[in-house]
Amino acid sequence: MHRLILGIESSCDETGVALVRLDAPGGTPVLLAHALHSQIRMHQAYGGVVPELASRDHIRHVLPLAREVLATAALDLQAVDVVAFTRGPGLAGALLVGAGVACALGAALGVPVLGVHHLEGHLLSPFLSADPPEFPFIALLVSGGHTQLMEVTGVGRYRLLGETIDDAAGEAFDKSAKLLGLPYPGGPELARLAQQGDPAAFKLPRPLLHSGDLDFSFAGLKTAVLTQARRLAQALPARAADLAASTQQAIVDVLVRKSLRALEQTGLRRLVVAGGVGANRCLRAQLDTACGERGVRVHYPELALCTDNGAMIALAAAMRLQAGIAAADRGYAFDVRPRWPLDALAH
Ligand code: KG4
Ligand code: ZN
Repeated sequence: MHRLILGIESSCDETGVALVRLDAPGGTPVLLAHALHSQIRMHQAYGGVVPELASRDHIRHVLPLAREVLATAALDLQAVDVVAFTRGPGLAGALLVGAGVACALGAALGVPVLGVHHLEGHLLSPFLSADPPEFPFIALLVSGGHTQLMEVTGVGRYRLLGETIDDAAGEAFDKSAKLLGLPYPGGPELARLAQQGDPAAFKLPRPLLHSGDLDFSFAGLKTAVLTQARRLAQALPARAADLAASTQQAIVDVLVRKSLRALEQTGLRRLVVAGGVGANRCLRAQLDTACGERGVRVHYPELALCTDNGAMIALAAAMRLQAGIAAADRGYAFDVRPRWPLDALAH
């Protein structure tokens, strides 16, 4: 039985490292320590993530963060039994940093390594919360790059029910925020501004709301926000909060409606929300209300574990090893998969 797992996340613009302990074969993995370095301030000057800078910054931070979590947990590197890393999807160069460091550590320590799917990490992250879910459930995965509804019947058992046909929900937040003159990453900034605005002030499209399927489309929303911003012209600063609130409401409406439809279609009574947009308070409040009325339980990761982090990677590795559906190995091939659909993991 593997006991101590070091997890490394480096797929995009946060370097995350964590230590998770697996006590008993059927027990819940325990998070011992996690540490994060966000590159947001570095990328802000460019209005978005610059892949080459991201890779170099991961190199600078990954080992100091590993030392930090080991110190917090009062453990030596030699205590680590498995090194897990994000194998994909994400930026190729950024992923290679985590994979390279994981394999080098593994080889030096003589312990196996395990590459983890980033979205599986997000999806399982609520298992580290005070209110962990139970299988089966519907997962609403809402990050900067993905918007998907999944039927989850166990670890590694993921059936894609619907996904975005263009922009992701996080992208819709980020691009709309940019049009409102807010800094990158726009999601949390737009949400903050929206608190002072009227969500009914502007009529914005809710694409595919009545499409009958579980797919999403957010590209049209960004165009509608651009049109409104241009029409407002000089008046934009005075109305920015209203436009932000209306944009947020349009995104949240679609996410709530489609999640409810996925629950109805499958007959499941449990929803798990994961990924960066899962930190959005407006989304949480409206999902809680809608699901509460229908007797559906909703689970979220802890706020600090909504956006990218190493804890979810160590956790996903622990749960895969525990379920016996993955084996850590000593090949140290450090191959990465920048594009990697989650349902390709199904076994
Ligand atoms: O999961 P994540 O950290 O990275 C990816 O795997 O993509 O998600 C980042 C996304 C960004 O688009 C960011 O703007 C969005 O999550 N986000 C939010 C909030 N916090 C982060 N969007 C809306 N409201 C928030 N509070
Ligand atoms: Zn992510």
